[in-house]
This record gives sequence, structure tokens and C-alpha cells, in this order.
Amino acid sequence: MKFLITAGPTREAIDPVRYLSNRSSGKMGYAIAAEAARANHEVTLVTGPVAISPPDGIIVCQVESAQQMYEAVCARIADADVAIMTAAVADYRPVRIADQKIKKNTDNMILEMERTPDILGSTRAEFHFRGMLVGFAAETANIAEYAKQKLERKGCDMIVANDVSKPGIGFNSDDNAVTVYFAGNQQPVEIDKTSKQEIASKLVQLIETYQKHLR
Ligand code: CTP
Repeated sequence: MKFLITAGPTREAIDPVRYLSNRSSGKMGYAIAAEAARANHEVTLVTGPVAISPPDGIIVCQVESAQQMYEAVCARIADADVAIMTAAVADYRPVRIADQKIKKNTDNMILEMERTPDILGSTRAEFHFRGMLVGFAAETANIAEYAKQKLERKGCDMIVANDVSKPGIGFNSDDNAVTVYFAGNQQPVEIDKTSKQEIASKLVQLIETYQKHLR
């Protein structure tokens, strides 16, 4: 199958030398890309700036901003059978990017922000993707409820939820623990704390099984 995976953070420019971003390491998305490639799937990885190297044998498209990630996904999604959105896309960006470095000539500064495009949310609604759609939900409370709402709102087949308030898992760490929810009435699957590589391998297996039996 053909997998399209988003990963890493985005950077939203403020001026030529500054940006807003987040702590996403890209490790979960890169691990899924590696495991999907190992299972002989064709993988395209659309990635924000990260400090790790992509696995061999896949197509890599590097982007910076949410807008660039949106355009890269839009251009490539028609080809995919499975889309997995692991990226920690910035939800807001500065309304204006200053042409020159902003000088500190006031005591306070207010940055006006606007929403970025919701890439996962656009995948069915705007890109008319008909393949298997997998989202991620990083939550700090009411995980099951929020994840299931997100699954439905964004038209996903599967959503991978993790509790980012727990130390030692999730954002920027090597381990994760997730609960996977499905559209329809299939029971959720819990994957206890383990390496992101092991989680990735189990997620690829769940996706393969879902594609074979449940669609
Ligand atoms: N996502 C995306 N584009 C965005 C924001 C999020 O593609 N602009 C995707 C993420 O890659 C992830 C999923 O949406 O697969 C959930 O992201 P999350 O930030 O947890 O949810 P939000 O939709 O931003 O909702 P909220 O901030 O209300 O929790």
C-alpha cells in the first residue's frame, strides 16, 4: 500500500529570524514511516523541521510552516491508500510576518494570530480522500471523549490517543503509550508503555488488519 505520513512540528515565522513552534521531535511519525517501509509499503513522509534522520527507502518532503505542510499533503494525497497525520501542526500563526527583524522598542508586544489550515480536517472535507485516514490526538484530560469526538469531526477511520500530561511518554520522548479508537463499533485497542518503534510496528499491523477485514 501507499502511505502518506505527516510528522514533526511546524514553524510559523514572526520575522526573518524568529518563529513559533512546539516540542514535537518527529519520533513517532518517523518510527511509523520506518515500520511501514520495513513492511514493504511505499512511504511518503511530509515532515516539519526535526533533529532526526528519515529512514532509508522512503520519499521525504521537507516543509516548515503549516501552510506548506497543507500544500504538500494536498499535492500528494490522491496517490495514497493510507494517510497518517502524526504532525504537531501549529494551530495559529502570526497574521503578518515582518519583513525586517522586529526591534525591541516597546515594553510589551502583542502578536496577532490567525488559525492555520487543519490538514487532517481537510483530508476528507477538501481533498476528498477516500483511503484509510488515521489521526493522532494529544490530550491532557478526558482522553477517550476528546479522541472520539476528534475521530468523528475529522472523518478518521482510526485515531491514536495519548496522554501528553504523563511524564516519560509522548512529546519528545522515546516511549509512548496509546489507546487506538476506531470508527464504527470496533473495540478500542490499548498499547501499554513501550518504545515508539514498538508502538509504530503495532500501529502498522492494526492498519493492515483494518484494511483487510473491516472496511
Ligand atoms: N492536525 C492537522 N492540522 C492542524 C492541527 C492538527 O493535521 N492544523 C492533526 C494532527 O496531526 C493530529 C490531529 O490533527 O493528527 C489532532 O491534533 P490536535 O492538535 O490534538 O487536535 P486539534 O484538532 O488541534 O484540536 P484541539 O486543539 O482542540 O485539541
